[in-house]
Amino acid sequence: MSAAAPAREFWSSRLGFVLAASGSAVGLGSIWKFPYIAGVNGGGLFVVAYLACIALVAVPIMVAEILLGRETRKAPVGAFRDAAGGSRGWSAVGWVGVATGAIILSYYSVVAGWTLHYAWLGARGALRSADPDAVANLFARVHADPGVNLFWHAVFMVVVTLCVAGGVRRGVERWNRLLMPTLILLMCVLLARATTLDGFGRAVEFVFGLHAQDLTARGLLEALGHAFFTLSLGMGAMITYGSYVARDEDVVSSSVIVSGLDTLISLLACLVVFPITFSFGLAPGAGPGLMFANLPIAFAQMPLGALWAAAFFLLLAVAALASAISTLEVVVAHAIDEIGWSRRRATLLLAGAIALLGVPSALSGGAGLFGAGFTDLTAGLFGPGEGKNWFDFWDWVCANLLLPAGGLGIAVFVAWRMGPAARERAFAQGSGYARWYWLWLWLLRWLVPLAIVAIFVNALGLV
Ligand code: PHE
Repeated sequence: MSAAAPAREFWSSRLGFVLAASGSAVGLGSIWKFPYIAGVNGGGLFVVAYLACIALVAVPIMVAEILLGRETRKAPVGAFRDAAGGSRGWSAVGWVGVATGAIILSYYSVVAGWTLHYAWLGARGALRSADPDAVANLFARVHADPGVNLFWHAVFMVVVTLCVAGGVRRGVERWNRLLMPTLILLMCVLLARATTLDGFGRAVEFVFGLHAQDLTARGLLEALGHAFFTLSLGMGAMITYGSYVARDEDVVSSSVIVSGLDTLISLLACLVVFPITFSFGLAPGAGPGLMFANLPIAFAQMPLGALWAAAFFLLLAVAALASAISTLEVVVAHAIDEIGWSRRRATLLLAGAIALLGVPSALSGGAGLFGAGFTDLTAGLFGPGEGKNWFDFWDWVCANLLLPAGGLGIAVFVAWRMGPAARERAFAQGSGYARWYWLWLWLLRWLVPLAIVAIFVNALGLV
């Protein structure tokens, strides 16, 4: 670090950190993807299995990530290097994290762009078409339209850049202090509306009813993989946010609060999405279309539908923004720590590069090279007729390979490589949970690596 480098910033308070970490966790994964996979896997038991994955696998890793950041005061690459006494091999784990952050943001921003586009359409009343077919086809049209995709992707990247450029306190923390209460408020309003719909009872039954026969081994592993994505683990987002945490912060209870809030929002999202789905006779397992193709059909028929549509898509946009801020912060913090760039320079240059990296994702809905062309190209990898376009391909690689690999690296490093005395001291510092150290270490040493290897075996189709 050069002598002129400014001192590292810290969160202004514990609340500031908890809000920022929750902002990172609660995102499109929690509000859209969780309801959909819970539905496909039969609800009930799947939800129980998911809760077990969060508590036994994800929370221990979150604690490890935040502690590594707090101890080293560095973004992932520097954190691994310093904690491993300069080892290049371990720094590589940090590098995978930084690269994964850039890739995730590049396509996440395209989906976030759809939410902005839909919020805008909703607010203008354009989702209120009298013709359900026209609304249903809207997503197919939007998805394939390069102009719309590129425009909103660019708008979203500019907003994320502005948030991160302000710094840790005046940018990241300040925005999360605004975004998270807004998100919770919107969620409560939408939930209140959903409880008045005919389909509410059926939705509760669908999500929480114990349909044991629907839970498969694959579903269990899906729950585990989703736990990583939804809590932003495995790419160093929590290492980076942890590097701004005060020394005497209670990391264990903060991790429990953040995971609990994310889980609560995921469950509430089910109770918003499914009553609408059932009340209007739509299919619950519709995949990506559940949100962008089906819900607008329902909104189009509801009284004050334009308002509810705008509120729903704004909720998604807000959640996506707080998550995107954390992915950009990983990459920016890396450039500040390791290259010595100023925050402004790092944010502008790197966000620009990531926006460009997202261009193929924005073009993935079309017939061209990154859409149908890429699907043909990857068909061999995923079995006959099952190729993925550029966007889906990278989403798959990140969620199933890169994030679990990063999580495995962090767990193995902290549990096996870090000095025992330093590890125990770090865990106990500021924490009222010091007596649970043995349990945390045991989970991190044995259960976590085993569970991650199981995800790999499943994702690569080895069983
Ligand atoms: N946790 C975010 C979500 O649920 C996604 C995310 C993954 C954000 C990895 C940062 C890092 O949408």
